Amino acid sequence: MTRRIHVIGIGAGDPDYVTAEAVRALNDTQVFFAMDKGEAKTDLVALRRQICQRFIQTPGYRFVELADPQRAKDAEYRTAVAEWHAARAAVWADAIERELAPDGVGAFLAWGDPSLYDSTLRILETVAQRVEISYDVIPGITAIQALTARHRIPLNDIGEPVLITTGRRLAADGLAGSAVVMLDGDCAFRSCPPQTRIWWGAYLGTPDELLVSGTVGEVGEKIAKLRAEARAGHGWIMDTYLLRHR
Ligand SMILES: C[S@@+](CC[C@H](N)C(=O)[O-])C[C@H]1O[C@@H](n2cnc3c(N)ncnc32)[C@H](O)[C@@H]1O
Repeated sequence: MTRRIHVIGIGAGDPDYVTAEAVRALNDTQVFFAMDKGEAKTDLVALRRQICQRFIQTPGYRFVELADPQRAKDAEYRTAVAEWHAARAAVWADAIERELAPDGVGAFLAWGDPSLYDSTLRILETVAQRVEISYDVIPGITAIQALTARHRIPLNDIGEPVLITTGRRLAADGLAGSAVVMLDGDCAFRSCPPQTRIWWGAYLGTPDELLVSGTVGEVGEKIAKLRAEARAGHGWIMDTYLLRHR
């Protein structure tokens, strides 16, 4: 007998982003494993529970909250992340053995899509070396798709590539062509030339959604101000933007 795990992409904010395939997997699940996410916890955990309540027809499923191991602050970034993943994998493996029957079905709900800046699949690969599990992946609507849909724009220029990157890498490498920037705590777009076009979105797909577009020169400071105010008001922020050279 093998325990089965679904890794379910739940979309990046709006419960309407949940796909028919995700609904099937939600209804197949007995135990949902969730990490304790700190500051954004209450809103994001509430959304996950709301999705389960809305789409699962037969109650009887359980949530198991897993404590998130501390990430070393003084180690080199990649070393710290690797150690953190190994510690998470140990916590997950123990919880799967403890909480799931040998033929049980569990799930991890991944924000947006599990393939995009999400460590669930990397950690599960390590878990699978410690406990016997099989797992599948259900794709979800990413923040990138939510952003382009809300601004009603194509992601790429005709025949052109798009880079997906982080704020840190944008600041270090600069912009060539088009780039989607995620995980940016510092408004790294301000390092781009003023004529660069920007389409920015925060809390996409939620009632608190914010959208701004223009050039970095025209709207850069406005976005920075709006972002700081929203972050202070909510206690957390998730924002994404697309940049293009003119
Ligand atoms: C850890 S990554 C997860 C991405 C996710 N797996 C996805 O498919 O969108 C978190 C980053 O995604 C972006 N993000 C996720 N949800 C968002 C939302 N609703 N609105 C704006 N940005 C979002 C932000 O850049 C945030 O820093």
